[in-house]
Amino acid sequence: MNREHWGSRFGFIMAAAGSAIGLGNVWRFPYVAGENGGGAFLLIYLAIIAVFGFSLAMTEIALGRATQRNPVGAFRQLGGRLWTPAGYLGVIAGFVILSFYCVVAGWTLAYIGFMARGLLGSTDPAVLGQSFEAFIGDPWIPLYYAAGFMALVVLVVSSGVGRGIERANKWLMPALFLLLLILLIRAVTLPGAGEGLRFLLMPDFSKVSGATFGAALAQAFFSLSLGMGCLLTYGSYLSRSTRIPTTTATVVGLDLLASLMAGMIVLPVVFSFGFDPSSGPGLTFVTLPAIFASMPGGAIFGVMFFLLLAIAALTSAISILEPAVAYFVDEYGYTRRRTVSICALVCLALAVPSSLSFGHWSGLKILDRSFFDLMDYTATNLMLPLGALLTSLFVGWRWAAGARREIFEGTGIAGIWISVWLLVLRFVAPAGLVWIFLASSGLL
Ligand code: TRP
Repeated sequence: MNREHWGSRFGFIMAAAGSAIGLGNVWRFPYVAGENGGGAFLLIYLAIIAVFGFSLAMTEIALGRATQRNPVGAFRQLGGRLWTPAGYLGVIAGFVILSFYCVVAGWTLAYIGFMARGLLGSTDPAVLGQSFEAFIGDPWIPLYYAAGFMALVVLVVSSGVGRGIERANKWLMPALFLLLLILLIRAVTLPGAGEGLRFLLMPDFSKVSGATFGAALAQAFFSLSLGMGCLLTYGSYLSRSTRIPTTTATVVGLDLLASLMAGMIVLPVVFSFGFDPSSGPGLTFVTLPAIFASMPGGAIFGVMFFLLLAIAALTSAISILEPAVAYFVDEYGYTRRRTVSICALVCLALAVPSSLSFGHWSGLKILDRSFFDLMDYTATNLMLPLGALLTSLFVGWRWAAGARREIFEGTGIAGIWISVWLLVLRFVAPAGLVWIFLASSGLL
């Protein structure tokens, strides 16, 4: 069977950037940067992205393009039985991630509607906090929104690579950057915006510690969608004539740009209205609505902001589902349409306990965590670092010559850079990943 390919290099770049730019950029990056010393964190983050993120992203794309397979097929073809589990790990991680990602994505869809209908008119964060808790604690309504969100994902992914994924991203990503730009102009022209910008950009080295490097590393590879075969699968639809280094650099650059823009929107807004850049969902769903309510024309900017979040989440969710779909289609010859629906239903079934853990089942704790936190923790802190570790070890030590040819042949890139790339895969990335893994599993 002939494998479908991207219609253009631009299409691949939009799809890969769509995968990378997600909830991680818009709600997580601003406060992580803020809490970890602003500009000082940014410098470390930049270095980690340039060395570690970029090398690993190129490697994943090369694995996919060389084999023209899903993660399981790719590892099996190049590494045999011993390495096949690395592929399965990615496919399973996809189900786990999507099961909680679609819950939060559902909230963003709901908030577009709430904003548009003026239901969040209060300027008091305490009141908005209560309505947020009441909403996410409802047994049914958040699940309807999660299901609605998954229906959108199914619609796109079942239409195929070119007519579905590529076409959706080609429209949604430019729209996303347009929304970012409009909101950025609004944010930096608010009175007192300078303080927020200073908070994000001024290096405060007193806040830098070992933990800062860990936070930057974790943020970098979640943001670049590394460790579960998303980029591998998208790479498998890439044609031989595309140059991997420059194409990857564009994707990484767009991801960084989106994070910076989000930071320059959220922090000035928060500071301008005298709030604290507190962390987590609260900042997005409680503090920001309070601010939009007191800003002239805030309802419009509020709708735009949640639309931005929903688009970012949608294009990422598409890429989280695709590796599993590619696996069943490649390996068993199932039809895409049926596979997509079944995979989405499995994710949605797993989303039920996640969503209920904010309300009816909030008393249920597994290993001291709610079901939602357990899924998030298992995927983000254990499965993804392990997946990225196996990928770098496999390519660095088993498939180095092949990857080197796949990535660098015909690009004219100097040998010294190739040596740096190999050094990162063999030593730097494994050491960093083992460190995140130990630190986050509490063994360190
Ligand atoms: N990168 C996306 C974000 O920033 C999320 C995401 C998509 C992801 N695919 C992934 C994270 C694969 C880890 C692995 O929100």
